[in-house]
Amino acid sequence: MTPNTKITDLKKRMRTALKGGGDKAIKKQKATGKMTARERIIALLDPKSFQEYDLFVEHTAHDFDMDKKYLPGDGVVTGTGTLSGQPVCIYAQDFTVAGGSLGYMHAKKICKIMDHAMRLQVPLIGINDSGGARIQEGVNALAGYGDIFFRNTIASGVIPQISVILGPCAGGAVYSPALTDFVFVVDKISKMFITGPEVIKTVLGEEISMEDLGGAKVQAEITGNAHFFANSETECFDQIKQLASFIPWNNKQKAKTFPKKPPKTKKYKIDEIFPSNPKQSYDVRNIIKAICDDSEFLEIHERFAKNIVIGFSRINGETVGIVANQPLYLAGVLDVDCSDKAARFIRYCDAYNIPLVTFVDLPGYLPGVDQEHAGVIRHGAKILYAYSEATVPKITVILRKAYGGGYIAMCSHHLKADFVFAWPSAEIAVMGPEGAANIIFRKEIKNSEDPEKTRKLKINEYKHKFANPYIAAAYGYVDAVIEPSETRRFLIHSLKISKNKSIVTSQKKHGIPPF
Ligand code: HXC
Repeated sequence: MTPNTKITDLKKRMRTALKGGGDKAIKKQKATGKMTARERIIALLDPKSFQEYDLFVEHTAHDFDMDKKYLPGDGVVTGTGTLSGQPVCIYAQDFTVAGGSLGYMHAKKICKIMDHAMRLQVPLIGINDSGGARIQEGVNALAGYGDIFFRNTIASGVIPQISVILGPCAGGAVYSPALTDFVFVVDKISKMFITGPEVIKTVLGEEISMEDLGGAKVQAEITGNAHFFANSETECFDQIKQLASFIPWNNKQKAKTFPKKPPKTKKYKIDEIFPSNPKQSYDVRNIIKAICDDSEFLEIHERFAKNIVIGFSRINGETVGIVANQPLYLAGVLDVDCSDKAARFIRYCDAYNIPLVTFVDLPGYLPGVDQEHAGVIRHGAKILYAYSEATVPKITVILRKAYGGGYIAMCSHHLKADFVFAWPSAEIAVMGPEGAANIIFRKEIKNSEDPEKTRKLKINEYKHKFANPYIAAAYGYVDAVIEPSETRRFLIHSLKISKNKSIVTSQKKHGIPPF
C-alpha cells in the first residue's frame, strides 16, 4: 500500500468503527429519545475538545458465534477532553453495539481511561447505557466489572467521579455508579436495578415496570441513589457543567475561585424569609440564597430526604458546602435517609478541601418505631462521625431550634466546629419547652388547681430560661450571637481566617464509620 492508500484505509476503518452498531441501531436509539454515545460526549464537553482512544479495540470472545461478530470499539467510547476548560477523562457505553454490554475488552478500555484519570489527577465521567455483563463472555465480563469497582474505590476521594445513567444500568453494573461521587439520571431514560422485572416476576411473582422499579424518579426520590434529576439529556449535561464549576479537580487542589458577588438581597431578604413566629416553617434554601454569592445554590439530592438540604454555593468567590435543616419538611428533623444524605456530602467536602457551612434549625432526631427499626441509631451516627472526622473549616449558624442530639450532631463545637454563631432567635436546649415542661414539672402541673394554666406558666418559665442562645453563649458553646443580617459578614470573616487551618490527624489506618 502507498502512503495515500494507507490513509484511505485508515479513514475507511475509522468510518466503519465510528458508525457503532450501524444505522438501524442508531435509529432505534434515537427513537427512544437518546443520543448516541459520541453525541453525548460531544454535547457535554467543550466544543472540539474530545480526543478518542482505542477506537479499534475489538472483543476477543469466541463462544456463541461471537467470533463471527464485529463489535466496533467493543461497545464503549473512551477518551479525554475538557469541561469548562479543564481536563477530564470520559467514557460512554454505546448501546447500539451489543446493547452496550460489558465484555472483557470493553472493561479493559474503561479501566484504561480510569487509570489515565488517576495518573493525570483529573475527574472521571462515566456515561452508562448498557445491558450489563455481556452474557456470551461469562466470567470474563464479571472480571471486568470487578476491575472497574476496584478502581472506583481506589479513586474515591482522590479524583471526582461522575456517573451519568442514560439508559439501562442493570445487574451488578449498578455498583460502579454507586461507588462514585455523583449520579445523574434523566426522566424516562435512566433505569437502574439489580434484578429486573423479569427476575422479580419469576422469583417473587410480582409484576412491575422497569420505570416503577428503578426509573429516574425512583432513584432520585425514593432510593436516593441519584443525586441529580433532569428532564432531558441536555439539561443533565448543563447540571454536570454547573457541578464542575464548584468542585476541585482532585483532592490536592481547591475549587476554582470566582469573582465575588453579593447575594440578590432585593429578592432574598432574610428578615422577610425568616418568620417571627417560632412555630412557622420557612424554606431554608431562601436563607442560603440570601447569604451566598449571587444567591446561587446548587442543590444536591433535591428530591430525596428533603428534611435536610445539601449543596454547593460560594461565599466571597469561594466554594462552600452547605448543610441545612429544612423546616419545610418534617420540621427539619434528622432521620435515617437525611443522615445518610448529609454524612456522605460532609465526607465529600472534607475529601476535596471544601469548607462546610451548616445552618441549624431542628427539633432533634425523628421519633418512631419505623425509624428505630430502620436503624436511626446507626444511620444518625454517620453525621456525628462525618462532622467529627472532617478537618476542613467548619462554620455553624444556629438559626432557631437546636435541641437534643440534633444540637450536637449539626456541627456543634463539641464536634470541633471552628466557629458557631447563633441568631437571637436560637433555642438551644435538651428539648423543646412543651416536652420539657411536661416532664420536669409533671407533678407540679398535676397537683395544681388549674393544671392547664400551670402548664402554660411552666412552659413560659422554661422558654424564658432555656429557649435562647445565651446559656450556650455563656459557656462558650456559641462564639457570638449575631443579627441575621450580619451572617454573611461573619461567614466571610471566619472563612478567611480559617484558610490555613491545619489538623494533625491521629495515626491510624482508618476509622470504622457506622456505614
Ligand atoms: C449481551 C446483550 C445484553 C447482555 C443486551 N444485549 N443486553 N448482549 N449481553 N447483557 C444485546 C441484545 O441481545 C441485543 O442484541 C441488543 O443488545 C439490544 O438489546 P435489546 O434487548 O434488543 O434492547 P431493549 O429491548 O432496549 O432492551 C434492553 C435491555 C435488555 C432491557 C437492557 O437487553 C435486557 O434486559 N438485557 C439484559 C439485562 C440484564 O439482565 N443484565 C444483567 C446481566 S448480569 P441484537 O444483536 O439483537 O441487537 C450482570 C451482572 C454483573 O450484569 C455483575 C457484576 C458484579
